[in-house]
Amino acid sequence: MSDFGLKGTVALVTGANGGIGSATVKALAEAGSTVIATDLPDHASIDGAAAYRSLDVTSEHAWSALAAEIRNTHGRLDILVNNAGISVTNSIAETSLAEFRKCMSINVESIFLGTQAMQNLLAESGKDRAGGSSIVNLSSVGGLRGAAYMATYCTSKGAVKLFTKSAAMEYAALKMPIRVNSVHPGGIDTNMMDTIYARYVEAGLFPDEETARKTVSAGHAMGRMGTPDEIAGGIVYLCTPAASFMTGAELVIDGGMTAH
Ligand SMILES: NC(=O)c1ccc[n+]([C@@H]2O[C@H](COP(=O)([O-])OP(=O)(O)OC[C@H]3O[C@@H](n4cnc5c(N)ncnc54)[C@H](O)[C@@H]3O)[C@@H](O)[C@H]2O)c1
Repeated sequence: MSDFGLKGTVALVTGANGGIGSATVKALAEAGSTVIATDLPDHASIDGAAAYRSLDVTSEHAWSALAAEIRNTHGRLDILVNNAGISVTNSIAETSLAEFRKCMSINVESIFLGTQAMQNLLAESGKDRAGGSSIVNLSSVGGLRGAAYMATYCTSKGAVKLFTKSAAMEYAALKMPIRVNSVHPGGIDTNMMDTIYARYVEAGLFPDEETARKTVSAGHAMGRMGTPDEIAGGIVYLCTPAASFMTGAELVIDGGMTAH
């Protein structure tokens, strides 16, 4: 019988104060995991987390300090959810190099740094657990196809997709018990989407934010936006022993947006 439980595991979630991050913390905790929630220092603690730590995902030093702390406090790490991210909604002509680099740093370099800092702990913990340890990286439908005014964001999410597959291949080749998968949400009702609607209006693509929201909603075959809980469910599944044969996979959760 499939095992959908996470009892006895320790999980780390980045960007845990955001819409998808906070839903993921709660869902992992409900499945039995001890969850360390992290976000930028100016955020507060969140529901369901066993501990809350400041972690700027672009800081190599912060990642290695947190790895040492987790080793001392918990002695293991079974799950890493690389969720922190930002959007950039701008034409290529008007995007500055600094804006492009900031997006790459937060959305892509963070995943390299987090994977590197945590892989030893994950590999050790994965040895005594069915299905091994699990890294879940938040990509996007923007990592599967392009979109106007989203070149920077889509570039970053495409990179997340292929970093994920390469890490999955590498760990499998090295017989390290870490599965690595990416999740590709469609439009999900969070602060990030509100920022994107506002930018669409500023750029003159839509007359107002309500029209932008209706148009984006209609772009999903199901005709609506998704909820953070609908993404958290997929993330939790990838971390359970039930997903023991999944690595290097793209889990698309988009209400049918990319089905055609
Ligand atoms: N909302 C969507 O429609 C959607 C769709 C596809 C993919 N995603 C991806 O899902 C993830 C979560 O998005 P969300 O919609 O919950 O966004 P959100 O804006 O609600 O949350 C993002 C979180 O990341 C944190 N963050 C930003 N920079 C950080 C840094 N340097 N260090 C640590 N934390 C940092 C923010 O403080 C925030 O809490 C992102 O990677 C996003 O690209 C979202």
